[in-house]
Amino acid sequence: MSGMQSLRIIGPKGFRISAQKLAGSSLIWSRKSSIFAPTDTYARRHIGSLDENDTEHMLNTLGYASIDALVAAVVPKKILTRRPLRVKPAEGFTESELTKRLKEIAAKNAVLRSYIGTGYYGTIVPPVIQRNILECPEWYTSYTPYQPEISQGRLESLLNYQSLVTDLTGMSIANASLLDEGSAAAEAMLLSFHSTRGKKKTYYVDPSVHPQTLACIESRASVFGINIVGELPENDKDLFGAVAQYPATDGSVNDWSALSGRVHAAGGLFAVASDLLALTVLKPPSEFEADIVFGSSQRFGVPMGYGGPHAAFFAASDSHKRKLPGRLVGLSKDRLGDDAYRLALQTREQHIRREKATSNICTAQALLANMAAMYAVYHGPKGLEAIANRVYSIATVFAFELQKLGFNVVNQTWFDTITIRTLDADKVLAHAVAQYGINLRKVNETDVSVSMDETITKEDLVDLISVFSTLSNESPAAVITQDSVDELANKLGISSISAAPIPSQFKRGGKILNYKVFNNYHTETEMLRYIHYLQSKDLSLANSMIPLGSCTMKLNATTQMAPLSWPEFGSLHPFVPRDQANGYTELISELEADLADITGLDATSLQPNSGAQGEYTGLRVIRAYLDATGGSHRNVCLIPVSAHGTNPASAAMAGMKVVAIKCTAQGELDIADLQAKAEKHKDELAAIMMTYPSTFGVFEPRVRDAIDIVHNYGGQVYMDGANMNAQIGLCSPGDMGVDVCHLNLHKTFCIPHGGGGPGMGPICVKSHLEPFLPGHPVVTMAGDKSAAIQPVSAAPWGSASILTISWAYIKLMGGKGITKSTEYALLNANYMAERLKNHYPILYTNSQGRCAHEFIVDVRGMKETADIEPIDVAKRLQDYGFHAPTMSWPVAGTLMIEPTESESLAELDRFCDALISIRKEIRQIEDGEQPRENNVLKNSPHSLKDLLTGEWDRPYSREQAAFPLPHLKERKLWPTVTRLDDAYGDLNLFCTCEPPALEPEIHS
Ligand SMILES: Cc1ncc(COP(=O)(O)O)c(C=O)c1O
Repeated sequence: MSGMQSLRIIGPKGFRISAQKLAGSSLIWSRKSSIFAPTDTYARRHIGSLDENDTEHMLNTLGYASIDALVAAVVPKKILTRRPLRVKPAEGFTESELTKRLKEIAAKNAVLRSYIGTGYYGTIVPPVIQRNILECPEWYTSYTPYQPEISQGRLESLLNYQSLVTDLTGMSIANASLLDEGSAAAEAMLLSFHSTRGKKKTYYVDPSVHPQTLACIESRASVFGINIVGELPENDKDLFGAVAQYPATDGSVNDWSALSGRVHAAGGLFAVASDLLALTVLKPPSEFEADIVFGSSQRFGVPMGYGGPHAAFFAASDSHKRKLPGRLVGLSKDRLGDDAYRLALQTREQHIRREKATSNICTAQALLANMAAMYAVYHGPKGLEAIANRVYSIATVFAFELQKLGFNVVNQTWFDTITIRTLDADKVLAHAVAQYGINLRKVNETDVSVSMDETITKEDLVDLISVFSTLSNESPAAVITQDSVDELANKLGISSISAAPIPSQFKRGGKILNYKVFNNYHTETEMLRYIHYLQSKDLSLANSMIPLGSCTMKLNATTQMAPLSWPEFGSLHPFVPRDQANGYTELISELEADLADITGLDATSLQPNSGAQGEYTGLRVIRAYLDATGGSHRNVCLIPVSAHGTNPASAAMAGMKVVAIKCTAQGELDIADLQAKAEKHKDELAAIMMTYPSTFGVFEPRVRDAIDIVHNYGGQVYMDGANMNAQIGLCSPGDMGVDVCHLNLHKTFCIPHGGGGPGMGPICVKSHLEPFLPGHPVVTMAGDKSAAIQPVSAAPWGSASILTISWAYIKLMGGKGITKSTEYALLNANYMAERLKNHYPILYTNSQGRCAHEFIVDVRGMKETADIEPIDVAKRLQDYGFHAPTMSWPVAGTLMIEPTESESLAELDRFCDALISIRKEIRQIEDGEQPRENNVLKNSPHSLKDLLTGEWDRPYSREQAAFPLPHLKERKLWPTVTRLDDAYGDLNLFCTCEPPALEPEIHS
């Protein structure tokens, strides 16, 4: 590209751009380019203010001649390496090239029919849900509903999910999702463990549990010295709980009352892994006194996606509501006394409790929980029962036909899964793939299981039976036809689904899902309107910027999202033979290599499903390394007080003792304190966890000193990579000397937050830690896994299908483009800080007065001068059409703003204008022109109802309330409720839909 450097090139709006100024200028479409130069280059679409005039204006505001000069003022010289990234192509693919390349990759995945089961099933995603939720930016780009007034839509949907789960499991309370079934099982065990205050150490895992679930339980247990047993001990004094699967992994349906009774007699908790579809027709686990019920809601309309993402569900009896891991949606009241939803009992969220936490879960699977809830809304109780009865009936026909053919059906009871004893399981599996294009599950050397699902047709059933009939000893092989399966169904008396002969001892009695919402929207028109009704209440990136510090809400581009809906990525079961997933293998290894290059580290594990899960995995890997190198006694983890709550929570989950490190008044790590604590704990020092740039939004100049201190005392260095958006291409954890780092792909690498998930938290490590990266009990992963830690997720590559998004982002931007993203993330944040600094104090900056990619606005002083708190500013911002910045974290009484690189100058200015205008409103209170109570901030946000009904007796006008800036008259998202009463919601905890008689009209 050297020839290009001297050209004057033309930016997107036709402005002239100095190529020298914009290093990497080939990222921009140029009028002087060859007529064959593509017009769909991507970086200029991603970076909001790449335009020359905008860039120049921002740099002028800051007083720098170039972006390089700004970067030099922001990033400490010692760590600014600008190592050219190896990411190919360096200039990035165009959008059409990217799609073509992804199609090539996708074609290498073979989409066969999979009846492998074990927690993953074929499902039909209702197109109305696929297009209007999974593929709809209003749903997938919204954030965790911490600002309930502009999140009522997804909160209602998550409440529907909780109602679905409580109803089907028969339990009192359910959360709004967990990461996957395996990690939910580990959470169930830990809840049980902590309920006996960790005094008892034995946990029984029944053989009915899926193998990957057992592995995740064992993995988590190893840290706490918990003894996992596969047989109930004679003496159960030490037993704190047990878990069984219902229906079991071999398909059988068992009454777990006796086991439950025994566990309770020993003073333990009984957990049941279950399946929501089965529970529509089978007795709920509450009937055998389960304390906890968990599982995956994948088969409620969420594609298998080679492992995820899917929402795990987690329900418990009422007494455990304060210990429940994950988020909980509850009903409360707003300022006008109207019902409104919010996240309930938030202080109960475990990661907030730092090292005292009993779980580290933060991001979960909100988008997928919403899909599952909507699937239930769309099908309703009758539809769901019909699907379940159909699955059961087809399984029954299959079982009887196989028995007729002389096969030994291992399980005597079933819902959807039949296990068959054969002579050679491998032979059956190979035959099924080669002759019928069907994947079955190998249970052991002789047993093969077949799990029926919603997608199965009569032809599929014929093929499934034929797999076995063509193997049977009878000669010639029985010919199975559609007529013969019809005949058998007739003979069994189950030709109609209403006649499904579920054995009476397991048959569910009474109505399910007797809530209005599950009984109202069964036509596509009604369903579409319900989805749209909810979505129109919520603020997402489709409306305006979401400047949440530490959360990196950047553009999630359509080209990156589109492949998620392709069957080549969506329809693969995670346990298919590896040679059917060659496309995934290629994409995964390219992504692993790119992430390792970006972080300056050597190897990557894509297994963790969230940032917190990445932290936990990284620490477990460190633990394994220390154990293998004579450092078993090392268990102290140093964590700065500024760290995100998940850091100490993860350290606690990894069995480490947390020692806090102070920060200085300038917001930097207190190196003297670090030195002293490292010295004090030198014999037990395992690791330090640090976030870089720090959570205070500055590049600490002495980061290398901190790393050296920890290494000198024999500890490993863990970097929380949540802020990687400020580093890529400029500096890297590996180059700084870090040993392991997690990345939040749902921040830096464009996976959207989905209203609270999915996420992905891969870890990258130096070579000495690579042997310990997690393995998997079912799928053989590449490399020598003999030293691998046990899995942290149910699937080998976590939520594999969304890896396509991050892969696509990196490949579209190229090595140069992602570096430019970083530069603009720094530029945008510093520009905003500069505009705001005369109106609000900026809390921490470096010696040059600069922040990193985010900054903290201090409103603490306004408490005294105007009785204004961050929440008042946050809620007033909703009246200006914006989502609030991160509130009161990492410093109470402040707001942390992170604009990201993908916001345009116009949007950055709109947001600054809003904050400046709010400052003027606060000044009016300070000056006594407005009362300290009953002012426009205290009463914010203003819903239409608040503005239009009743007398108006406030000391400000309706117009001031609604349209404080002129552009809002044209374009604004209205909060649908007024400020929520948090205390009311927690005191009157209500976490399901209201029973039908009480439920208000949805559209009223
Ligand atoms: C600095 C930091 N570390 C870790 C996390 C945890 O990531 P996750 O929510 O994906 O578990 C967050 C989440 O916001 C964060 O901001």
